[in-house]
Amino acid sequence: MAKRIIIANWKMNLLRDEAKELTNHIVNNIAVSDLKSVDVILAPTFICLEPVGEIIENSGIELCAQNVFWEESGAYTGEISADMLLDLGCSWVIIGHSERRYALGETNSMINDKIVFSLKKGLKVVFCIGERIEEKNQGKTLNVIKKQVEIGLNGVNNKLFDNIIFAYEPVWAIGTGITAEPEQASSVHGSIKKFISERFNCHISKIRVLYGGSVNSDNIDSLISQSNIDGVLVGGASLDKKSFLEIIKSSGV
Ligand code: 13P
Repeated sequence: MAKRIIIANWKMNLLRDEAKELTNHIVNNIAVSDLKSVDVILAPTFICLEPVGEIIENSGIELCAQNVFWEESGAYTGEISADMLLDLGCSWVIIGHSERRYALGETNSMINDKIVFSLKKGLKVVFCIGERIEEKNQGKTLNVIKKQVEIGLNGVNNKLFDNIIFAYEPVWAIGTGITAEPEQASSVHGSIKKFISERFNCHISKIRVLYGGSVNSDNIDSLISQSNIDGVLVGGASLDKKSFLEIIKSSGV
C-alpha cells in the first residue's frame, strides 16, 4: 500500500517561537515506525520556514510553503519566488487553497501559472480543489472540480504527476467543524481520480488525493480508512500537538 500523506497547514498562525516549539514536539514524539508508512509535511508561514526547516532537517519530515509567485524574480512587491522557497529548503508548495481563491481573488488561470512555474522549478505541488456550499447544493460539485483541474493543469505534462498531490477541500468543510461524510468524500475522490486519469492519460494509481476540511483526531479513522483517501490536509487540528500526533498515528498503514 502506498504511503499516506499528512500535511499540516498552519495558515496565518504561530510566531517563530511557537512554531519552533510545536515542531520540536512533533519531531521528538514522532516514531520512526510512523514515518515508514506516513509522509509528514509541515506548511508554516513564510517567516517560520527557516526555523522550522532547521529543526526538521534529517528527520524525514518535509517542508512546504503556503504560496508562491509565477515569475522568476523582479518587481512583484510582497510576493515570493520558487527559488526563495527552494533556498529555504522547501520541497512542496500549496497552490489553489480556497482561502486564496475566495478571499484574495486567485483565479484558475493564476493557479495554473503557479503550478506550471513551480513544477518547472522542481517544487512539488499540493493542488487544492473543492466546491462552495451553493455549488454543492446545486449539484455542481464535480463540474466545479473538473473546471479547476482542467484549467489548473493546462500545459502540465502527465509525467510530472508524481510531483503533484491533489487536495479535495470542500469549502463548506474548512474551519467549520463540518466534515464531509467519509463515504461521500471518498466517492468524490474516486470521481476526481477517474476524471484526471482519463483526461490526462495517466494511470489512476499515480493520482493521489488528500482530503481536507475539519479533519481532527476524532474523525481521522473514518476518513483514512476510505480506499480513495490517500491522506489528509489538516488546518486547525495541526496546531494542536496532541491532535496532530494522533492524526499521524491513526494514519499509519
Ligand atoms: P481546517 O482543518 O481548519 O478545517 O482547515 C482545512 C484546510 O483548509 C487545510 O488546508
